[in-house]
Amino acid sequence: MDRIRIRGGNRLKGEIPISGAKNSALKLMAASLLTDEPVTLTNMPRLADIGAMTDLLMQFGVNMNVRRGAGLGQSDTMRLHAARIESAFAPYDIVRKMRASFQVLGPLLARHGEAKVSLPGGCAIGARPVDFHLKGFEAMGATIELADGYVLASAKGGLKGTTFEFPFASVGATENLMTGAVLARGRTVLKNCAREPETQDLGRCLIAMGAKIEGLGTSEIIIDGVDRLSGIEYPVMPDRIETGTYIIATAIAGGDVELIGAQASSNGALIGLLEKIGTEVKQTNRGLSVHRNGVRPTAMDVKTDVFPAFPTDLQAQYMALMCVANGTSHIRETVFENRFMHVPELARMGAKIHVDGDVATVTGVETLKGAPVMATDLRASVSLVLAGLVAEGETIVNRVYHLDRGFERLEEKLSGVGAEIERQQA
Ligand code: EPZ
Repeated sequence: MDRIRIRGGNRLKGEIPISGAKNSALKLMAASLLTDEPVTLTNMPRLADIGAMTDLLMQFGVNMNVRRGAGLGQSDTMRLHAARIESAFAPYDIVRKMRASFQVLGPLLARHGEAKVSLPGGCAIGARPVDFHLKGFEAMGATIELADGYVLASAKGGLKGTTFEFPFASVGATENLMTGAVLARGRTVLKNCAREPETQDLGRCLIAMGAKIEGLGTSEIIIDGVDRLSGIEYPVMPDRIETGTYIIATAIAGGDVELIGAQASSNGALIGLLEKIGTEVKQTNRGLSVHRNGVRPTAMDVKTDVFPAFPTDLQAQYMALMCVANGTSHIRETVFENRFMHVPELARMGAKIHVDGDVATVTGVETLKGAPVMATDLRASVSLVLAGLVAEGETIVNRVYHLDRGFERLEEKLSGVGAEIERQQA
């Protein structure tokens, strides 16, 4: 199994191209099921999760073509054509590897009137049920049965508009219901919706395909169903979590880095926080410039929450930064119940962290020490890479397949700005 070797201590200088957002691209791919015309997605990231969604969509009979970008910073273009839905079966073997597979339920129900989709089950960061998705589809008139670990959903006469309030502003449930409602009969009013930038990106693409949606980016989304949607060429938004990760990389290692294609607007909470603790982030005409001088960052508390608050997907990376900050900070995770798996691994590198329930108390140390480490999810793994950038000596991050799920060419992007980092093939 591949691993990443890092020798810490280098400042970062140069440019990093930001890829298209994984968590937008996956939902846009699923939305291609809503039309019998071709959907072309540009600025596609090249990631293992995109490969998993490709495998799933091909099972439904979607014709897929990819034009590869030539080098770093040159994204892929993907053409998806769901002329007919040949099967509406999403097997356990694919869904268990990637929970975003569950997002095909809305489009399949809306276009095909039925679907059999494996329940995703729990995962390393928490139980992650799909009850809000299922209750929402039931409210839209679907019949839902659970059998042998599968959801059997049927809406033979089509989904019907309804008013539904999410108990929590779930990203996946909001997006799944949106993609069902665009082809439903009548008006759907969704309350307490996710306002995440990726949810807005999906909504903008659906509107460009002919959907009638109002209220994107607010907690109430109103959708008037239409009879059909058309094909589209649509650019995937820049990845705000990859952006945030490289902002924190620069804050932890020090230096000057320009993130090409990055947007400040989707990273407001992180940027506001880092400016208070000694890292400047400015919008340029090409992206974001990040600058930290030699001064050690100051410790500062953070609480994760739904957008526009601080994202749970940057919590592990921020914790790596707090491990070397001046002072003590408290990091509270409110979105997932078990998202501190990086703590014991950071501790192996000399970090001082105490976890009590949903709060991690981090006492900054002057130096971390390189060590062999591994993590059980994507964002936790990258926090270990960030810690490795500033640790003394060598850090080996094992289980690189987690990183490959969501960070395109991580080691090339970081070595391109001066980090000593390489992939070692098994
Ligand atoms: C999306 O997951 C992202 N994944 C996650 O990114 C991200 O961490 C999360 O949103 C929060 O921002 C994708 O977009 C593919 P939720 P999702 O539904 O949609 C509970 C990454 O690293 N809940 O907003 O699954 C749930 O258990 C990943 O890229 C229910 O109880 O997140 C969780 O505690 C990890 N019932 C909370 O809501 C439901 O039916 C938020 O989950 C649905 C959710």
